[in-house]
Amino acid sequence: MAKETQQQSIKIRELRHLTLGMPASDGAGVKLTRLIGTPEINMLDPFLMLDAFESDNADDYISGFPPHPHRGFETVTYMLAGRMRHKDSAGNEGVIAPNGVQWMTAGRGIIHSEMPEQEEGLMQGFQLWVNLPAKAKLTEPKYQEFPAEQITVETTESGGEIRVIAGHTNAGAQGAVTNDFVKPTYLDISLKQSEVFSQNISSQENSFIYVISGSLVVGDKQRIVKKKQLGILAEGNAIKITAETNTRFILVSALPLNEPVAKGGPFVMNTQDELRQAVEDYHSGNFL
Ligand code: CO
Repeated sequence: MAKETQQQSIKIRELRHLTLGMPASDGAGVKLTRLIGTPEINMLDPFLMLDAFESDNADDYISGFPPHPHRGFETVTYMLAGRMRHKDSAGNEGVIAPNGVQWMTAGRGIIHSEMPEQEEGLMQGFQLWVNLPAKAKLTEPKYQEFPAEQITVETTESGGEIRVIAGHTNAGAQGAVTNDFVKPTYLDISLKQSEVFSQNISSQENSFIYVISGSLVVGDKQRIVKKKQLGILAEGNAIKITAETNTRFILVSALPLNEPVAKGGPFVMNTQDELRQAVEDYHSGNFL
């Protein structure tokens, strides 16, 4: 009897919203698609922004992201193709190559640049902004970088692959990145045609998928998500994705912070006063 009451019923997450995002330009003129942080999807707490970049035309990316500040959140760059050099005011420097990740906790303030390490060829990847809770907005900056070789790859029975960037899979494979505050799950999943991916997830979490290639169906209602589409998942405690064709997608999920958000360009705080302070601190050289 007691055992029965402890058992949670399974609720599969269906698709709540589908978007192609909108074209945008950032840094010194890098062309990208903004998927979160738009008039359509202002944010998906705790995710403030998601950009996808993909171009084999160097003019679209060559100017990169010259030095600029951040405070109050984390920037996560995950590369699919091409190479990008990161440098920051805390002395961290590294080149992220395909399937490599860089997780930068800006905290109280950091100045960084991200510049292409190539003059031609395909540049493809994502930048995600993860908010920090009020108590950690002024935490010490932290930088984590993992090349592809250091990221756990779980092979599924059907020959699919799950790259575990952060969080863990149902089978227990652990992500390389360690987070002290918001602890997202960030998986890069490649499925064979008809293969089914399952992931238990807290019902309180906000979750989205983005299809890199192929197409898939979400949940039991069979809503299709195609290449370059972002799907926000509805409530539930289990994710079920079926590949229509050979498919690659990312799944990102985390508990919301449910705190006020004041956004001002590269700073994300809780109040307008804190934003003004961030600008003042930056201009007075108070960042690292
Ligand atoms: Co930046």
